[in-house]
Amino acid sequence: MIRPWTPPITVIVLLTLGLGGAQTAPSADAPVKAFEVTASRFEFTPEKIEVAEGDHVKLTLRSADTTHGMAIPELKVKVKIPKGGMPVTAEFVASKPGTFVIKCSEYCGPGHKKMLGTLVVAARGGQ
Ligand code: CUA
Repeated sequence: MIRPWTPPITVIVLLTLGLGGAQTAPSADAPVKAFEVTASRFEFTPEKIEVAEGDHVKLTLRSADTTHGMAIPELKVKVKIPKGGMPVTAEFVASKPGTFVIKCSEYCGPGHKKMLGTLVVAARGGQ
C-alpha cells in the first residue's frame, strides 16, 4: 500500500533545509539547549542536565518501559511520558540559577520515589 503523505513531507523537509541558511530562527533571543532523556525503572538517563540561566531548554523524553513522568516543581515543569517509547517534549526557560530536582511524576513501581534527576542551571554573567 502506498503511503500518500510521504512525498509532501520529504519536499517540506528539503525546502526547510534549503532555506535554512537564508532565514533566521524565529526566536533569536535565547539559545536552545536540547537533550534527549530516557526514562526507565527507576532512573532518568542522563541523570544530570546542565544548562545556563536564561537558556531555552528542550527535553525530548521517551520511556524505555512503562509510563513515567518528568517534573521539575521549582520551574513548574511537568509532563507525562507514555509507555511505548513515543517521544514527548518539555520546553521551558531556565529562569533562575540553582540545582533543581527532577522527579518522576507518575507512579511506576516500587522505585518510583527514588527516580530522580538533577537540573543544574549555572548563573549567567560573572558579576
Ligand atoms: Cu518513573 Cu515514577
